[in-house]
Amino acid sequence: MAKTAKPKTAAKKAPAAKPAPAKSGEPQPKLQMPAMGRKIGEPWVDLPDGKALANWGRDEEIAYNQTNRQTEKALFYRRTFDFLTDNRVAGDYHEYGCHRCRTFRMALTEARLHNLQTMKFFAFDSFEGLPEPTSTTSVEIWKRGALTTTEGNFMKMVREHGHYADRVTTIKGFYDESLTPALRQKFLDTENKVALVNVDCDLYESAVPVFKFLDPLMQEGTVIYIDDLFAGHTGSPNKGVARAFLEYQKKTRWRFVRHLDIGWWGRSYIVYLEKSGPDGVL
Ligand SMILES: C[S@@+](CC[C@H](N)C(=O)[O-])C[C@H]1O[C@@H](n2cnc3c(N)ncnc32)[C@H](O)[C@@H]1O
Repeated sequence: MAKTAKPKTAAKKAPAAKPAPAKSGEPQPKLQMPAMGRKIGEPWVDLPDGKALANWGRDEEIAYNQTNRQTEKALFYRRTFDFLTDNRVAGDYHEYGCHRCRTFRMALTEARLHNLQTMKFFAFDSFEGLPEPTSTTSVEIWKRGALTTTEGNFMKMVREHGHYADRVTTIKGFYDESLTPALRQKFLDTENKVALVNVDCDLYESAVPVFKFLDPLMQEGTVIYIDDLFAGHTGSPNKGVARAFLEYQKKTRWRFVRHLDIGWWGRSYIVYLEKSGPDGVL
């Protein structure tokens, strides 16, 4: 049996020579990257090529857009619940425009992840879809009844999601009828102030009563997420939800500091009261 050779003491390695700085046009030195499960190199992002998109059609485009959009929204909720807890902004969650319970489930999940044991969740919707639009929009499918999810189906999704379903309340009705002064007073008397609100109701005429209703329910630090600032109205600030928000800002005592962008369509703002203080743009 051959004797195992005694391991030799490793000869001291000379320190590796520093790679010479690359001159333009010369190939870059090869980098050792840890395995990341994807290719690394030009063009530095994964771009599907012609072969990958050979059968790409409308359905794939819709799935692609939805995945990207909901991912951006989920990131917004993650960041904002972190902002709220870190800044000790306590209060409830309001959503005006709830449809498929996508963003509502994001709120429930983030509340659970942040162990918010007292937050309540209010879902304001007709649960019959959009009202008959009275202003023009550039989205032809926004007609009466579009985007309908029934109250029953909405609550089914909430229950199946499995977080805090017992703290979810639906307020059914079209806003011009449901958001009454009496309901607002009830919120003032019996509920917490709002910590986060999602205004996601697409139309100018829907957003106007929402801002009016919300006004006394907010507090310093409330985050207001306006989903359709640049959607449905060719991006014009003279139309749609953007117009309603600009008009509302003229009437309210609240001021709004711009916070996060949500995709190309939405933005969030932090609510504060104007006091004399430093000037500048944030
Ligand atoms: C774009 S969807 C909301 C999407 C939802 N946030 C989600 O993530 O699934 C718009 C919703 O606003 C509601 N809506 C719009 N205008 C309304 C109004 N004037 N009164 C009540 N609900 C309204 C519609 O019923 C619809 O459910």
